[in-house]
Amino acid sequence: MLKTRQIKVWDPLVRSIHWTLVATFTLAFVTEDEFMNLHVIVGYLVLGLLAIRLAWGFVGSRHARFTDFVPAAGKALSYLRDLLNLRARRYLGHNPAGGLMIIALLLSLLITALCGLATFGVQGFGPWADWFRVQGG
Ligand code: HEM
Repeated sequence: MLKTRQIKVWDPLVRSIHWTLVATFTLAFVTEDEFMNLHVIVGYLVLGLLAIRLAWGFVGSRHARFTDFVPAAGKALSYLRDLLNLRARRYLGHNPAGGLMIIALLLSLLITALCGLATFGVQGFGPWADWFRVQGG
């Protein structure tokens, strides 16, 4: 008889950040026009969650760490080649393509939220308001 064993790959912090990011991103996306106060609050939440996730990428559990899933370019390419030939290795945690996807996802989310913060600053609000006022003269 085939014996199966359950392995918990993702720790509770990774799981909860994942789902709260899903919720806060969606809320930020749908509130951009009419509910600006809520939009800014969830936008800040996204930034806070990203900061925690980035820190957890250095000090967190095994599969949460960047060293576990950020692949060298050669490894990512050979994984993609193997994938096309239907003989890709299986991984616990992210495979090299999944690792690249996570980096792209975190970076694009960070850039989106920072652009929001900058827009807020240009409008004279938030922590960057003074900086934009000085630049604008
Ligand atoms: C991942 C997080 C966020 C998402 C998905 C998001 C999404 C959006 C979207 C879709 C727009 C409309 C852009 C357009 O119509 O051209 C927008 C505008 C804006 N966002 Fe965000 N945003 C985020 C974070 C933030 C943050 C952190 C702040 C400020 C602290 C912020 C402040 C603003 C402001 C001031 C606008 C312009 C509203 C206007 O005057 O039209 N956003 N955002």
